[in-house]
Amino acid sequence: MRKVIRGCEHVAGTVEVPGDKSISHRALLIGAIAEGITTIEGCLIAEDVLSTARCLTAMGVRIEGLCANAPLCSASATLSVHGVSGANFSAPQDVLDAGNSGTTMRLLLGLLAAHRFEATIDGDESLRRRPMDRVAKPLTQMGAHISGQGDKCYPPVSIRGSRLRAIEYQMPVASAQVKSAILLAGLFADGVTSVIQPAATRDHTERMLRAFGADLSVDGLKVSIIGGATLRAQRVLVPGDFSSAAFFMALAAAIPSAKLTVKGVGLNPTRVGFIEALVRMGVDVRVENQRVASGEPVGDVTVIGCERLSPINISGEIIPTMIDELPLLAVLCSVANGESLIRDAHELRIKESDRIAAMASELSSMGADITELPDGWRIVGVRRLRGAQVKSYGDHRVAMSLAIAGMLADGETIIDDAECVSISFPQFWELLEGLVGQPD
Ligand code: S3P
Repeated sequence: MRKVIRGCEHVAGTVEVPGDKSISHRALLIGAIAEGITTIEGCLIAEDVLSTARCLTAMGVRIEGLCANAPLCSASATLSVHGVSGANFSAPQDVLDAGNSGTTMRLLLGLLAAHRFEATIDGDESLRRRPMDRVAKPLTQMGAHISGQGDKCYPPVSIRGSRLRAIEYQMPVASAQVKSAILLAGLFADGVTSVIQPAATRDHTERMLRAFGADLSVDGLKVSIIGGATLRAQRVLVPGDFSSAAFFMALAAAIPSAKLTVKGVGLNPTRVGFIEALVRMGVDVRVENQRVASGEPVGDVTVIGCERLSPINISGEIIPTMIDELPLLAVLCSVANGESLIRDAHELRIKESDRIAAMASELSSMGADITELPDGWRIVGVRRLRGAQVKSYGDHRVAMSLAIAGMLADGETIIDDAECVSISFPQFWELLEGLVGQPD
């Protein structure tokens, strides 16, 4: 599918985004091993989350509330997960399909490490290029038997779980997926499993495991879990996805007359680095109606557009707190007033696509002055981008970032492979079009 985007002069109004992807995955996975029925309200219904749901269903977990033509029927749904109470999945009859979802594959490997059967997880072309050794290594140390393809344990990955021993693991990369896989395995290990992060990463797993009754403690960058707890089913309220909201926030930030509110969005401090970046670029961002839902901070975010964005220099510990928003930040830097530098983002090279190369190439064809660095970009802002035909590389966040670039450009931008937004945000195009048409 191709999408045509036209430059826009004004946006205003209020928008609500669908449920948080990371929290939806975790609610399904943790609900699946709990005792009782977990209800997930506002669960994101998008391809990635459906991959997790299908893998669990293939191992005997009953999930109610999914409609037959998901993800097209609704953006969010209330699902009921019938937990199997512990490491009690049944052996899958076929290869499990994680689709495009790294979170599905990595977190599921953590749970499968405690199951005594053999299972194989595969994924699409993009997932087959993503390294699984980062989870295979610690899970093997805990006692699981894991094999994949090539030197970095690429999918398909086969796993046979076993009785697990607790480990203390110093993570070489700041990754919430790796941390979560180890904590989920640690739930079934003998003793105390600890993970030490090089920098803080999203902590949804920790918050949710605690809410379900796990014995988990946090000491700075070290997270420890005591094996053996029985988790109890919960009611989980999923906030709006900050990473989806960020596209609208970015659009409003770069249009001088804009004023846009995103309601009910998750504001977990380990996720909102993009707000700090906007503020540092001179944008007026207001957070109101702050509350806590299911242990996660939530609020309404209003962004007021600014005359011309200031350039930004960004690196270090803030990077993991805005990892999925960096392609979008590159778009904003492309129209900022001066030279921006984004560093320490090597991880972007091994996301759904090589996001450093993808954004450098496509923004260049839209007239941006952007230089690819090994771990980020140097970007000198131009007054206005120009419409062009661009590629999404089948990567949902690249497609949506380019859509925002297209709205900040003169003329028409044509985005190829635009259907990939259904990975995280199937209603994106509809909501974007609706916003441009809204009255003040
Ligand atoms: C995620 C963690 C991040 C993020 C991804 C979702 C998660 O990946 O980029 O979109 O839900 O844990 P890494 O763990 O590879 O940093």
